[in-house]
Amino acid sequence: MTPEQAQERIEFLRKELHKHNYHYYVLNQPIISDYEYDRLLKELEMLENQYPQFHDPSSPTVRVGSDISNEFEQRPHRFPMLSLANTYSYEELQEFDNRIARALGHRSYRYVCELKYDGTSISLIYENRRLAYAVTRGDGEKGDVVTANVKTIPTVPLIISHPSAPDDFEVRGEIMLSRKQFERLNQERIDNGEEPFANPRNAAAGTLKLLKSSEVAKRKLDCFVYYLLTEPPLETSHFRSLQLLGDWGFHVQPYSELCENIDKVYDFIQHWEKERENLPFDIDGVVVKLDDITLQQQLGSTAKSPRWAIAYKFKAEQAITRLLSVSFQVGRTGTITPVANLEPVPLGGTIVKRASLHNADQIALLDLHFDDYVIIEKGGEIIPKIVDVDRSKRTANAQKVTFIANCPECGTPLLRNEGEARHYCPNEKSCPPQIKGKIEHFIGRKAMNIESLGEGKVELLFDKGLIRNPADLYELTFDQLYGLEKVIEDPVLGKVKKISFKEKTVENILKGIESSKQVPFERVLFALGIRYVGETVARKLATHFKNIDALRQASYEELMQVPEIGEIIARSVIDWFSDSDNQLLVERLRSHGIQLGIDDTKQTQISNALAGKTFVITGSYATPQRRKELEELVVAHGGKLVDSVSSKTSYIVAGENPGPSKIQKAQQLGILIITETDFLQMIS
Ligand code: IVH
Repeated sequence: MTPEQAQERIEFLRKELHKHNYHYYVLNQPIISDYEYDRLLKELEMLENQYPQFHDPSSPTVRVGSDISNEFEQRPHRFPMLSLANTYSYEELQEFDNRIARALGHRSYRYVCELKYDGTSISLIYENRRLAYAVTRGDGEKGDVVTANVKTIPTVPLIISHPSAPDDFEVRGEIMLSRKQFERLNQERIDNGEEPFANPRNAAAGTLKLLKSSEVAKRKLDCFVYYLLTEPPLETSHFRSLQLLGDWGFHVQPYSELCENIDKVYDFIQHWEKERENLPFDIDGVVVKLDDITLQQQLGSTAKSPRWAIAYKFKAEQAITRLLSVSFQVGRTGTITPVANLEPVPLGGTIVKRASLHNADQIALLDLHFDDYVIIEKGGEIIPKIVDVDRSKRTANAQKVTFIANCPECGTPLLRNEGEARHYCPNEKSCPPQIKGKIEHFIGRKAMNIESLGEGKVELLFDKGLIRNPADLYELTFDQLYGLEKVIEDPVLGKVKKISFKEKTVENILKGIESSKQVPFERVLFALGIRYVGETVARKLATHFKNIDALRQASYEELMQVPEIGEIIARSVIDWFSDSDNQLLVERLRSHGIQLGIDDTKQTQISNALAGKTFVITGSYATPQRRKELEELVVAHGGKLVDSVSSKTSYIVAGENPGPSKIQKAQQLGILIITETDFLQMIS
């Protein structure tokens, strides 16, 4: 390699790694596995050592990736939040031990082995024994202040009362989401037509950066701590400092072990590499730390990581199997996903029969042929993916896998928009998965909220020919539903589920449909699934036009006069109402008593849902009247309305640009800040 070629490769690798840091830390959507990332980083490290003339102080080898987003205030870390050097092999672990032995000369030492929790790191600052700040790692020097969000995590103590704790100290740990909570959250997202998170780590990191603490509280995060920082250190043993943290009320995992030598460390690693699948949370390796804190300080750190610790990372689990066929699935919005059907093979505790192929580019990139031996990997993603093909095993007459030209469900020629990776079926109206998708959107939690129809029941009703559009739901009868059953196999995950409509199920379904007739107009409008009319736009249109007839008759100019409604939305609303099928749908919904307008008399209706609760309403809303309406709703449901925030305030309802002093005070007092939607849900 010439120096010019090396420079080119170095620049390419830096650019790639910066891009992956952004996907991992900011978007929480990594596009390559940790192993692939570490391979690129190692290659860059090697080239930079070989060609020191190309040194760059902001190279990804020198600086840790940053999670800073512009939505939070930032705070500098008193001590930088470093990352850990990684290794994937016993030989490298041995080299680490040799380095430690050389540096410490004749002194004896022990290691502490801990699990490497796969979440997102956090620094907890305690002042006067109270949690004062919770800060993300950020760029290592400063991070985002997410105190209000972290305060919602039950395993983070807000006040420390144990006598051995000093007044001021810092604790570092990992914000986690258990596998069980992750599955619950993703199921909820799928039911609501939202994109599921790829793995618990992304879900935890994304949740920590939500702007509404009340949303964070619902996600049930956890915090495992692994490091105590005091000056001077309270303990000389890291292992004992972990025990101390447990005594003070922090959540310390019980699996850490003191190891006399590197072979014992390796036993620990091998044990957990096998046992990891039985843990209720994800780990991506083992962290090996020198136990003696005085020796730790003596060894110190590089700019990026401490010299006294190393992370042994587990490789993403892989398996080789044969590609049998490729099927093409049509999603709810018409997007086509190719799925590989494989000869069943065990991987990470399950038998894998399918793997995702993402899109046409991915198939081309792998140069996939039928009967190919493919390498599949489970990197924490929901379904495994094909990462490579063993070309040496390909037979001479193997057929290349090509992308389909027509929709496998309805035969319509597929389209692909310029610059987009996915193909889609444009036959919105009669392509079966798209019809089901529209009905599923209609019954969703944020729309008509017909929960009793969730989990595959729409599919069953569609297959039996009972529903073709949302209005059909309101004509279903007990006799039509009773006794229906179906075995549903999730096409991607391969899970099998039997649905059968017994008496109680049918009663619940009919009850759910009936009560959806009380859902307010703004949510009905959202439920209709007009393109670009999301929750917020639906609310704005409902408040402005008051009923569906006024909205249907609105001209382009009138629509454009509604605050924040632009050309694209106005056009989409007009197109939707000019379609005769949609006009018929509205009339049928009307005949079944669905709310197609705001009922002004409803506002005096009294419930006790908010009894004993005090509210402050701040910020601006769609219209000044809207704010007034919310204030009236507080009182109408038995709540108390006040102007200023105090320890007696139960909730702050924050609109756009809420008063900064109110928000600050609420955060200091740990008062929940909620959105208008949260508030409406409290009283719905
Ligand atoms: S110790 C200076 N211990 O791994 C000490 N880190 O790649 C630095 N992590 O940013 C960290 N489990 O978020 C430590 N038991 C554990 C850990 C752990 C997970 C994370 C941590 C850190 C990252 C480094």
